[in-house]
Amino acid sequence: MKKKLKGIPGRISLLLAVTLVLLAAMFPLAQAAPAPGPIRVTLDGAVLTLDPAPQMVAGRVMVPYRIIAERLGARVGWDSRTRAVTVTKGDEVIRLTVGETTAVRGGRNITLDAAPMLVAGRVMVPLRFLGEGLGSRVHWDGPGRTVALRAAAPDPAPAPAEPRGRGVVNLYTSRHYGVEPVFAEFTRATGIEVRFTTGADAVLRERIRAEGRHTPADVYLAVDAGNLWLAARDGLLQPINSRTLQQNIPAALRDPGNRWFGLTQRVRTLMYHPERVRPEELSTYEALADPRWRGRLVMRPATHSYTQSLVASMIAAHGEARAEEIVRGWVANQPILIDSDTRILETLAAGRGDVAITNHYYLGRLLQANPNFPVRVFWANQGERERGAHVNISGAGVTTHSPNRENAIRLLEWLSGPQGQKLLADTNHEYPANPAVASHPIIAGFGAFRRDPLSMAEYGRLQEAAVRLLDRAGYR
Ligand SMILES: [Fe+2]
Repeated sequence: MKKKLKGIPGRISLLLAVTLVLLAAMFPLAQAAPAPGPIRVTLDGAVLTLDPAPQMVAGRVMVPYRIIAERLGARVGWDSRTRAVTVTKGDEVIRLTVGETTAVRGGRNITLDAAPMLVAGRVMVPLRFLGEGLGSRVHWDGPGRTVALRAAAPDPAPAPAEPRGRGVVNLYTSRHYGVEPVFAEFTRATGIEVRFTTGADAVLRERIRAEGRHTPADVYLAVDAGNLWLAARDGLLQPINSRTLQQNIPAALRDPGNRWFGLTQRVRTLMYHPERVRPEELSTYEALADPRWRGRLVMRPATHSYTQSLVASMIAAHGEARAEEIVRGWVANQPILIDSDTRILETLAAGRGDVAITNHYYLGRLLQANPNFPVRVFWANQGERERGAHVNISGAGVTTHSPNRENAIRLLEWLSGPQGQKLLADTNHEYPANPAVASHPIIAGFGAFRRDPLSMAEYGRLQEAAVRLLDRAGYR
C-alpha cells in the first residue's frame, strides 16, 4: 500500500521532469530565430501609445510625427499639396516632406537617412531627427528595442537675481592656455563658480563615457572640431537650442545638430624663415609636396588631430586619391616630425628646416614674448582658384548627463558673447568665433586672409579616412 502511494507521485514527478526537459529543449529553438519585437518609445520614462506602431527603416526608427511633436510641446502643420510637415517649437522650425530625404532644421538643409513616409494615412518621420530637433535627448536601447526620449529642461531664464552667486559649473577641458582669467571673469559676472579638470581630449571623452550618468562634467571644452565631432557621435553631448549661441556662432563653426559650438578659431598655415625662404616661393599646403622642399620641412606627426583635420580638409577638397598623392609627396620630402607646434617654430628659428605647417597662435605667442622672433606667417591657399586657409576651432558642448545644465548653457552663451570671446581668444592669440568681436593686435597684424569654407563637422566625418590615408602614405 505504502509503495503504491509513493509510486503515483513518482510518476507525476517523472512526467513533470520530462515536460520541463522538453520545454527547456524547445525554448532555445524559439529564441534562435526571434521575430523582431515591437519597438517601444518612452518619453521621460512613460511608454507612448503610437498608431501606426514605430517601424525600423534604413536603421532609423520611424514614428507618427504628430503625437511625438505634440508631446514635446511643439505645434504641427501639414500641407497636403506639398506633403510637407512643419513642426514649430519656440524659434525652432522643422520641415519634413514625405518621400524626400532633405529636411530643414534651424534654417539649414539636412539630409535624412530615411525619408518620411505615409503609413495608413499618417506621416511617419525619423524619431531621432524630430526628437533632437525639439531639444530632447534620444537614446536607443537596441536589445530592449526601446527609444527613450528625455524632454529637455527649458532654456534658462535670463540671469535671475543671485546676489550671493549660486551654483557651479564643471568643465573637462583639453584647452588649458590661460583659461583661468576667462573663468574668473565669468564667475564675477554671473556668480557661478567654474571648476575644471584638464587632460588630453581622448582621455576626457573616455572619462565622460565611463562616468555615464554620474559624471560631474557639465561641459566638454576641446580643441579641434574632430574631437567635438567624436564626442557628439558617441552620445556624450546633448543638443542645446539657444538663440544666443545660434546668433553668435556662424553655422560653419558649430554642429548642425547644435551639440557643440566653436568658440575660437585657429588657422593651420605655412610658416617660414624669412632669411631662407621668400614668400613668393610659397603658395599652398599641396605645393609642399614639390621635391624642391626635400629636407626643408618641419611638420607635426600623423597622430595629432591637427594633422588629421588638415588632411581631412584635403580629402574634402580633392578626394582621397589626390589627397594621398599630396601626402606621399610630403613624406618623400622627409620632413622633420615634431609633436609640438612651439618646438616646430623654434626649430625653424634655429635654422633646422625652412618651412613648417603650424597653428597661427603659436607664432603669436612667440612674437608676444620676442617681437623679433625670426619666423613669418604665410596664409596658405589664397589664390583665386584655391579654397583658402585651413581653419579649425576650439569649442564646447554640454554633456548628455550634465548635472548643472543651466549653468553650462550660461557659460557657453557668455563665452560666445563680446566679453567672453575677447578674453578667450586673446589669451591664446586666436580669432574669435563671433564675427562681431575684434582680433588681438598681434594677429590682426598677420593680415587678412580667406578661409576654407568647409564646415567643421566635415573634419570629424572624414577623420578616420584621414588617419587611414596618413598610414597608407607612410606619414608617421
Ligand atoms: Fe594648440
